[in-house]
Amino acid sequence: MAKRIGLITAGGDCPGLNAVIRAVAKPAMREGFEVLGIYDGFLGLIENRMHVLSWAEVSGILAQGGTILGSSNKANPARFAVGIGADGKAIMEDRRPQCLELIRREKIETLIVAGGDGSMTIASELAAAAHQAGHSLNVMGVPKTIDNDLEGTEITFGFQTAVSIAAEAIDRVKTTAASHHRVMVVEVMGRNAGWIALHAGVATGSDVILIPEIPFDFDAIADCVRVRSRHGKRYSIVCVAEGAKPRGGQLFVSKVDPTSPDPIRLGGVGKAVADEIEKRTGIESRYVVLGHVQRGGTPVADDRVLSTLLGERAIAMVLEGKRDRMAAVQRGRLTDVDINLPCGKQRTVPKDDPVMRAALELETHFGD
Ligand code: F6P
Repeated sequence: MAKRIGLITAGGDCPGLNAVIRAVAKPAMREGFEVLGIYDGFLGLIENRMHVLSWAEVSGILAQGGTILGSSNKANPARFAVGIGADGKAIMEDRRPQCLELIRREKIETLIVAGGDGSMTIASELAAAAHQAGHSLNVMGVPKTIDNDLEGTEITFGFQTAVSIAAEAIDRVKTTAASHHRVMVVEVMGRNAGWIALHAGVATGSDVILIPEIPFDFDAIADCVRVRSRHGKRYSIVCVAEGAKPRGGQLFVSKVDPTSPDPIRLGGVGKAVADEIEKRTGIESRYVVLGHVQRGGTPVADDRVLSTLLGERAIAMVLEGKRDRMAAVQRGRLTDVDINLPCGKQRTVPKDDPVMRAALELETHFGD
C-alpha cells in the first residue's frame, strides 16, 4: 500500500489554499504517496470525511479562490463543541482518541495542515496525543492567513491578496470621498494585528491608519481631519483595523461564538470612528466594512507563487524525513521552523516596522 499523507485546510479560508493543495499533492503523488483530502478542516477528521485525491482534482485549481476541501474555524478535536449548556457555555468533548484511531486505521503517517496559529496548535496537540498513545504522527504546517500574524514567518499566504483587495476598495472610496468632501472610514480585517490596515493604508496614502498596536484617540483623529480641511483637503480617508481600539477603551466585538476556539468576532470600530469624527468636526463621515471580501476570490500572482513555494516546501520536508515543522519565510528566504513556534502567539506590528516608519515620515496619522 502507498504511503499516505492527510491534507487539511483549516481555520478561516484565504486566497491561495487551492494553490497549496496543488503544490503539496502533485509532487506527493509523483513520489508515490496517496494524498487524503480531509474535508472542512479538522471537522472532516472528527466526522471521518475524506477521500484520496486524484491528479485531476488538484489540477487547474491554482488560481481558484477558497478551498476545494472546505474549511472550518470551529472544529478542534481536543475541545470539540457538542452543544451549549444552560450557562451559555459550549459543552466540549475531547475527540482526539477517535481522530487518532482514524489516522491509524487510514494509515496516515503525515498530516499537512494549511492553517494559522490555532490550526498549528491543534496539529501539534494531535501529534503529542499520538505520541502518548504510542503512534507516530508527523505534522507539517503551511502558514496561512490574511492577517499575516503568524510567529515564525514574516509572511503568510493570503495576506498580499487581502491587502490588494483592501487597497483597491480604498482607492475607489477615495474618489467618492473627494467628490462629496466627506470623511470615509474603511474597516479592514486582521484580528489583533494591524498588518492589513498598515499595508493597505500605506498603499493608498490613507490619511489616518488605525491599528491595534497603537490605541487611538478620537480627538486626535478629529484634529487631523480638521487641519486637512483647513489646508484645503476637503476629504480624508481613515483605514482602520477591526482590532483597533480607543486608548483606555475596549475592542469592538460584533459577535461571540462560544463553539469556536477563538470565540470573539471583531467589528464595529469603523462606524464608531466615523460617528465620532462627524460629531467632533461637523464633516459628513461615512464608513465601509470590507469584511469577507478580503478573503474571497482569486489570489494575486505573488500569493500564488508564495503558496506554491510553501506547499512544495511542506512535501519536500516530508521527503527529507523532517518532522513537525512549519514552512516559513525569514529574511526573504524560504525556510522552516518548529511547528510549535507559532502556537498560542500572534505576530503583531512592531514599533520599528519599516513600513510604519516610512508612513510616519510621510505624515500619516496613526490616531495617537
Ligand atoms: O483570521 C482571518 C479572519 O478573517 C480575521 O481577519 C477575522 O477577524 C476573522 O477571520 C473572521 O472570522 P469569521 O470568518 O469567522 O467571521
